Amino acid sequence: MTTGWKASDIPDQSGRTAVVTGANSGTGLVTARELARRGARVVLACRSEQRGKEAAARITRELPEALVVFTPLDLADLSSIRDFASSYAYDRLDLLINSERGYRRWIAYGRSKTAHLLFTHELAGRLATAGSDVIAAAAHPGYAGTNLPTRSRGRSSRAGGARPRSRGARRGRQTMWRANGCGWLRSSSRA
Ligand SMILES: NC(=O)c1ccc[n+]([C@@H]2O[C@H](COP(=O)([O-])OP(=O)(O)OC[C@H]3O[C@@H](n4cnc5c(N)ncnc54)[C@H](OP(=O)(O)O)[C@@H]3O)[C@@H](O)[C@H]2O)c1
Repeated sequence: MTTGWKASDIPDQSGRTAVVTGANSGTGLVTARELARRGARVVLACRSEQRGKEAAARITRELPEALVVFTPLDLADLSSIRDFASSYAYDRLDLLINSERGYRRWIAYGRSKTAHLLFTHELAGRLATAGSDVIAAAAHPGYAGTNLPTRSRGRSSRAGGARPRSRGARRGRQTMWRANGCGWLRSSSRA
């Protein structure tokens, strides 16, 4: 079903803080850029300092007023995760976009996706228990033409079958936003 919803429909995000993991590439980069475009402060949580800083520069070249900051985070390294959490410099977190990809083999990839859904489910439960109005949601972008299929091309063709027509990262992210009903983006006044 097409709703006609576009990234430009994202409401004002001024005063809000978003953390986007895997923000230097693909759907993470598009998400970070579009949130920054709407005024959010965006923390680019990336494992490569070079790629993270290049992504920040790329966004600010397009959006000179953007509030984007690179912060190192390798989700395959627990000490890096602890360092990220303990050095978090802001007094609020409005949006946590988990767009990372940690494993290369498809079996582990599938398990990591299941873990992603279980994590989001558990987070939603804990937020509700804590009386928070923060929304935890998970969504699938369809098949988007990002670095993900490029890096795994060999395995995908060995698995057989035609490759589905891919959509750009921007359209993939739009699918995710639509799937979430945009509920998690709707208000800039909530804590
Ligand atoms: N593209 C699709 O069709 C599709 C379909 C379904 C689901 N998804 C999901 O969408 C999410 C984003 O995928 P994508 O297509 O945008 O892929 P992508 O272009 O390859 O981007 C993946 C990002 O994750 C980062 N990353 C990988 N391992 C990390 C780690 N250990 N710690 C921190 N960051 C890490 C990568 O950083 P580096 O540059 O340092 O590697 C990169 O920025 C993934 O969860 C993927 O499974 C994508």
